[in-house]
Amino acid sequence: MTSTAIKNRTEEKFVPILLDSLRVDSILEFDLYLPVNSQLVLYRSAHLAFTERTRQRLLENRVDRLFISFENRGAYQHYIEANLNTILNDPTVLEEKKAGILYDTSTSLVKDVLSNPTYGENIKRSQDMVSNTVGYILKGREAFLSLLKITSFDYYTYTHSVNVCTFAIALAQQMGFNDEQFLNDLGMGALLHDVGKSKISDRILNKRGALSPIEFEIMRKHPKWGVDILQDSSMVSEESYYPVLQHHERGDRRGYPHGLALNEMHVYSRIVAIVDSFDAMTTERVYQRAMETYPALRIMFALKGAYDEEILRGFCELMGPSGLAEM
Ligand SMILES: [Fe+2]
Ligand SMILES: [Fe+2]
Repeated sequence: MTSTAIKNRTEEKFVPILLDSLRVDSILEFDLYLPVNSQLVLYRSAHLAFTERTRQRLLENRVDRLFISFENRGAYQHYIEANLNTILNDPTVLEEKKAGILYDTSTSLVKDVLSNPTYGENIKRSQDMVSNTVGYILKGREAFLSLLKITSFDYYTYTHSVNVCTFAIALAQQMGFNDEQFLNDLGMGALLHDVGKSKISDRILNKRGALSPIEFEIMRKHPKWGVDILQDSSMVSEESYYPVLQHHERGDRRGYPHGLALNEMHVYSRIVAIVDSFDAMTTERVYQRAMETYPALRIMFALKGAYDEEILRGFCELMGPSGLAEM
C-alpha cells in the first residue's frame, strides 16, 4: 500500500489499492470504495466475490485504482499475501504494477515483523514473501529494474529491509548463484538483517546528532539481538543468521561485532554488507542527503579491503553496465 491516504467528509481515512491486485472469483474481506465527485463512496461490500463482470465494468470506466478504509488494511494485506504468487505470475498484469504490489506488500509485512518480530506467523509470512521475491527476481533483469524504479529513497527500517533483500537476491543471482534454497536463505537473512533494531528506541534510531558512546554501544548490539530473535523463533535456517550477525563486519577488520576479516565472513554476509551500505548511502536520512548510485559505489571501492571486490564489481554490473567503466 502506498502512504498516500485520503479522507472523506466523515474524516475516515482511506488508502488506494490497484485493481490489478484483486483476483477474479476471490472473496474480498474488505469494502471497496470509489471516488465520485471528489468523495469516496462505498462501491462493493466485504465478503462478496470479485467477479469478472465487476472487473470489466471498472475497466470500461477506466478505473485502475480503488480505495479501502484504513481499518481494512490488515484484511487487504492478508488477502494480497495469499494471492501474491498468482499476481506475480499473471501475464496480463504489467511488470511495473507487479513490482509495485510486491514492494508495497513487502514493506507492510516488514512493518508488522518489526513491531512483533518473535511472532511465528510473521516469520512464516516473511519466508513466503522472500520466496515470492526470489521467484520474481529470477524472472530476469526487467523484473529487477521494475523493482529498482519504485524503490523508496526515504529511509525507514522497513523500506531499507526490503531494499536490502531485493538487492541481495538480485546481486547473488548476478554472481551466478541460482539455487533457490541459497537465494531463499540469503533473502531471509537480508530481509531481517536489522530486526535487532526492534529492541532499540526510536530516539536513538532517529537521532539527528552524533550518538553518545553509550548509544553507540547499544546500536552495535543490533546484529547479535537480531540473531537472538531468529533463534527464539526456531523457524529460520541457521544459514540466514550469518548476514544478520555479520552485515556490519568489514574485510579490513574495522567492522563489528567481531572485527572479522573478509575470508572469515560468510558469502551471504559479504553480499549483504555491500547492499546494506549502498542502500544506507543512497537513501535520505535525517542526518544525510541521499547520494547518487555511482558516487556511492566509488566510495565503497575506495575503501580498499572493506568489501569483497569481486562482489562489488558484480553489484556495479547489476546497477548498470555503463557505470562500470567509471570505476
Ligand atoms: Fe544493521
Ligand atoms: Fe541495515
